[in-house]
Amino acid sequence: PRPRIIAVDGPAASGKGTLARRLARHFGFGYLDTGLLYRAVGLRVLRAGKDLGDEAAAIAAAGAVTAAELADPELRSGPTGNAASAVAKIPGVRQALFDLQRRFAAHPTDDRGRPLLGAVIDGRDIGTVICPDAPVKLFVNASLETRAKRRHKELLERGEAIIYARVLEDIERRDEQDRSRSVAPMAKAPDAFEIDTTGLDADGAFAAALAFIGSRL
Ligand code: C5P
Repeated sequence: PRPRIIAVDGPAASGKGTLARRLARHFGFGYLDTGLLYRAVGLRVLRAGKDLGDEAAAIAAAGAVTAAELADPELRSGPTGNAASAVAKIPGVRQALFDLQRRFAAHPTDDRGRPLLGAVIDGRDIGTVICPDAPVKLFVNASLETRAKRRHKELLERGEAIIYARVLEDIERRDEQDRSRSVAPMAKAPDAFEIDTTGLDADGAFAAALAFIGSRL
């Protein structure tokens, strides 16, 4: 049977990762955080000492990304997030990461490589480009201030010395860049269910998602 797919999209720090992980655990599905793929490309370019606008360098980096490097804690840093958004607008980078994502959707596995019946995939273009046929599509959103506060807290917990105003500015710029790029911009698929987590905690978002999923899977 074809794997059952839950596509989860939304802007930075909307709570989509937390929700996606929880859904994956609940249904016993695999989980792919596609933001990490773009972050891995950005980090490779930075570590190679190349410019983020160097398309050839970014495309080569995208071709070299492997699942094994997605555990690097440096991928979660603020600068890596900004680098990810910069390389994510390069069509060749998106193309290079497309097959990897499609393969996971077609053959989801757990972290030991064992096959699973379904997958939760989160990102910006999962419901629109990567898995347009997914039976369940969620679009997770929250106010800019709520998202900036969450991300600020996360970065402080990582030990990054960064002020709130800077996080807010970074997130706003990144969202604008992700929404307005010409290839696979961040967008809510017409058939996606929107969950606004501004006034919801993780339990509330999970309950809203489960209520929508109902018998759709
Ligand atoms: O979700 P996360 O903040 O880790 O994503 C980092 C960046 O990667 C985003 O700002 C976006 O530019 C890019 N991205 C993307 N498409 C995806 C996932 C992430 O363009 N499916």
